[in-house]
Amino acid sequence: MTHPHRRPALLATVPVAVAALLTAADPALAAGPVGSSGVGDPYFPLAGNGGYHVDHYDLTLRYDPGSRHLDGQAVLTARATQRLTRFDLDLHGLKVTGLTVDRARAEHRSDGQELVITPRRALRKGQQFRITVTYSGTPGPVTDPDGSLDGWIPTDDGAFVAAEPQGAMTWFPANNHPTDKSSYDFTITVPEGRTAVANGVLLGRRTEAGKTTFRWRQAEPMAAYLATATIGKFQVEQFTTRDGIKVYNAVDPREATAAAPVLEQLPSVLEWESRLFGPYPFRAAGSIVDRAPQVGYALETQTRPVYDRAPRLSTLVHESAHQWFGDSVSLTSWKDIWLNEGFAVYTEWLYAEQHGGDSARQTFDGLYALPASDPVWAFPPGDPGSGAHIFGTPVYARGAMTLHALRTAVGDHAFFRILRAWASEHRHGNGTTAQFERLAERLSGKELSRLFQTWLYARGKPNQP
Ligand code: TRP
Ligand code: ZN
Repeated sequence: MTHPHRRPALLATVPVAVAALLTAADPALAAGPVGSSGVGDPYFPLAGNGGYHVDHYDLTLRYDPGSRHLDGQAVLTARATQRLTRFDLDLHGLKVTGLTVDRARAEHRSDGQELVITPRRALRKGQQFRITVTYSGTPGPVTDPDGSLDGWIPTDDGAFVAAEPQGAMTWFPANNHPTDKSSYDFTITVPEGRTAVANGVLLGRRTEAGKTTFRWRQAEPMAAYLATATIGKFQVEQFTTRDGIKVYNAVDPREATAAAPVLEQLPSVLEWESRLFGPYPFRAAGSIVDRAPQVGYALETQTRPVYDRAPRLSTLVHESAHQWFGDSVSLTSWKDIWLNEGFAVYTEWLYAEQHGGDSARQTFDGLYALPASDPVWAFPPGDPGSGAHIFGTPVYARGAMTLHALRTAVGDHAFFRILRAWASEHRHGNGTTAQFERLAERLSGKELSRLFQTWLYARGKPNQP
């Protein structure tokens, strides 16, 4: 994965005399190349960090829902993409009690969400290294630019953990941007009677002295915001689908009656989506249905979406579609969020169309009938303008309308080939809107710049659907 926005290492570009001045201002710069404090995302400039990639996170957590205290240890296996005398992790609101780089104690300090680390010796470009962080505190969510909460959100019996776009750093030290995808191991200890549900496959559970430890493994690459460690009193159900996918459902008993008929549909929804988009990208699946009324949304946490209440079927279809679009094929920049939400909403329209509901054309026409003053036309979905708008109506509805306009222009055959190629060519990776536009033109043989310009970038209600 390349990072077109990444800032170059500072000293490489500054003349010697200026470097001397900077040295006086910031002694850390004197030592040499420093990893940048963000990957250059225009909406979240401090998200992620420059100078390295994380291959694997090994997270060991111990949570007490009564006191809301968390003890954590994170072991990150990383690789330097440049020489590094200093680099950052993202960590918010928790106290670091120990930190080593390749087993040597490393100097560190917190500066807002940046955990600034100075390893004892500089890391060479290409060097693999291991960061061990021990930390603790009382985690809580961050408030996003749109006012919503994300991250570690305490509930009456545990915690609802959903971290889009920013909140991964509220519960583990992370390179917190979707351009850096990693495998994960989780070892989570909670009081006996509570269940801790993370991503991927359950490797084992063990109860000892009134505490139960759950071990989970997410083998396929995952963006930090899609990790979960949701804790509560849950009813658990496990089975394997006809396609060999391991399903693990965890349901708050207070939501169980309402959730059952919807969760039951998961295998058939995944089969239907696999026919449209290509093979389901993960070896595990499932649902976490919590009771977390303060949250107000569901999230497509990888392999196992988390719902703040019993979901509707359309929501289960939506979060399942994100497993292909968002989770396997991830954003390169938050500005491109329509690549997640437009695709997930359009999947809802297709589901209705193929299951006796409205056709996608009817849904499109219903939206297109809304007056120019309607919020759906408030901004163009390909350019939401700031992090405050990434979950706005135009991203979801007009994002889906963009796909319908594409389908109308290229025909069903080319359209579904484009969706499948998008999923397969960027599987377990990242994509950009520009790459999607090029793919659509390549596979359809049509010039589509006007279509994308109109639906993704033009202000106000587009003319001529
Ligand atoms: N990505 C989620 C979905 O569409 C929604 C979501 C996550 C959200 N965080 C949010 C919506 C904050 C509103 C506010 O499935
Ligand atoms: Zn969504």
